[in-house]
Amino acid sequence: MCGIVGYVGWREASPILIKGLHRLEYRGYDSAGVALINEKGELNVFKCKGKVSDLEHFIQGKELAGSIGIAHTRWATHGEPNDANAHPHCSESGEIALIHNGIIENYRVLKEALIENGYTFRSNTDSEVLVNLIEYIRTTNRCPLLEAVRQALRQVVGAYAIAVIERGNPNRIIAARQSSPMVVGIGDGEYFLSSDAASIIEYTRDFVYVNDAEIAVIDRNAPLKVLTLDNHDARIDIRKLELSISQLEKGGYPHFMLKEIYEQPRTLVDCIRGRINPETCEVKLSGVIDHRDRFLQARRIIFVACGTSWHASLIGEHLIESICRIPVEVEYASEFRYRNPILREDDIVIAVSQSGETADTLAAVELARKAGTFVFGICNAVGSSIARATDSGAYIHVGPEIGVASTKAFTGQVTVMAMLALAIGHEKGTVSEAYYHEVAAALLRLPETLEEVLKVAPQIADLSKIFTYARNFIYLGRGYNYPTALEGALKLKEISYIHAEGYPAAEMKHGPIALIDAEMPTVAIATPDHTYEKTASNIEEIKARGGRIIAVCARDDEQVRRSADYVIEVPVITECLMPIVVSVPLQLLAYYIAVYKGRNVDQPRNLAKSVTVE
Ligand code: AGP
Ligand code: GLU
Repeated sequence: MCGIVGYVGWREASPILIKGLHRLEYRGYDSAGVALINEKGELNVFKCKGKVSDLEHFIQGKELAGSIGIAHTRWATHGEPNDANAHPHCSESGEIALIHNGIIENYRVLKEALIENGYTFRSNTDSEVLVNLIEYIRTTNRCPLLEAVRQALRQVVGAYAIAVIERGNPNRIIAARQSSPMVVGIGDGEYFLSSDAASIIEYTRDFVYVNDAEIAVIDRNAPLKVLTLDNHDARIDIRKLELSISQLEKGGYPHFMLKEIYEQPRTLVDCIRGRINPETCEVKLSGVIDHRDRFLQARRIIFVACGTSWHASLIGEHLIESICRIPVEVEYASEFRYRNPILREDDIVIAVSQSGETADTLAAVELARKAGTFVFGICNAVGSSIARATDSGAYIHVGPEIGVASTKAFTGQVTVMAMLALAIGHEKGTVSEAYYHEVAAALLRLPETLEEVLKVAPQIADLSKIFTYARNFIYLGRGYNYPTALEGALKLKEISYIHAEGYPAAEMKHGPIALIDAEMPTVAIATPDHTYEKTASNIEEIKARGGRIIAVCARDDEQVRRSADYVIEVPVITECLMPIVVSVPLQLLAYYIAVYKGRNVDQPRNLAKSVTVE
């Protein structure tokens, strides 16, 4: 799940590579490195443990000349983060340098065979095995690098995006992919390579997405060539990507996460634009129009997702079951893919993924497609692997999300799911005209509603100071807001490292209530809905046991205010969209607590934005 970047052309490669690594750092950030070939054909490799800024420091004053290079920011899977395990890895002779994103599953067998043939290893990585395998093949078969890479990859089991360069050849990068993202940017007399097109958008808008089992031959003096692993020419499809650089910068905010929280009123405008007619409140999703019969005949919908996208899917379940009367299941993609699931022709699988690159979700999509099931994608990253692997879909259009903790993608996902439910329900006739228009109108008002919600930020900042001491937190919610409680808890744990659990409020009595004491704060979501009274009683039960309560409730809710220690007031809109409203103060609470604890909010320890390995 690391980031890889490459350049070959007429400019100095190193500044482009370092800038690209900074943009990719959200993908992995435990070590970084760069390999460059200068005009004399000399190969120079610099790498170290730490962030891209550590690498920048490390390479100061070093020999960085060259108009060709590859660079990597790592998220370790094999071997601890240290200098030796950082990429690029060089072959034993020092002639070939490689960067790798992914996991070579059969690396042990390959490594043993190479050791028998006299190879020694300097790192614990699976990636070093691959570069030595390439060298071994090149030497024993006396073949060019391209052929050696092709043959080596045919022996490899696992996931990879790789880029390879060789000493003495300042013109050519060989890159390949299997299940890990990779895109080639085409410039004027120059090429760029990256795990994410957004990282190189300032140089070009023309991109070629490399497909699984394909090798790209990126030669400064020749048109781009793409081969399949069985040595046939592959089709090259150049796509245009519209994205502005300002979307990738912090824009004056101290962290990407805060910027992304504050962006939500605008990102929801982008998400809804062209999909709900502001005059008639009609909802139109092209993915539903194009596959109307599929949706009308669907006997079951199965969501597959991970993490925050899985939480959004739980809300999607609620929306679709109530509005479309279609049974819904929500699966962790990682469980679904290994469970030999029962899939029928009239099922629809909906894959939800911000990055569109999550390995488990992608594998679930592939499994469903193999079974002949129609797969619909709800992704953010345009042109991502999942977006391309699905039969149809709806982008959430919230712009690049850089903070590791997902915020605007969550609200975008729920918004798309609400539109999806309305569009299908309307076609099916399972939703009344009145409710259809009520929810559509509330969706149109969402941006201004969120502007309103964001006004609680200063109050939450103050509140957060009080709770930095906590070691555990409980989040409670019911109905549509049970998944919001799960999401609130996930936000807190991933960026503040405080243990937090989300529960359906009524489940408290079945065990977790034993944990309640003055040291264990509870965040209770008690906005008006048909379980409001019951949640209010749950709050009383916690209070009676000495627990401290932060309640998220409607303005002027005197009942909750009486029993809660602190209240966060939010505007009330139609019940099924309340998770979008409520999630914003929960994002802010996690953010400020993490900031007060001095955590690295955008790049929390051990995590990576895009989990492209299993
Ligand atoms: C969210 O805050 C997390 N960092 C994580 O759970 C994330 O939602 C998960 O890895 C799924 O990512 P995706 O939406 O890109 O597939
Ligand atoms: N498996 C490789 C390693 O541990 C690559 C990990 C990555 O994708 O960053 O070095």
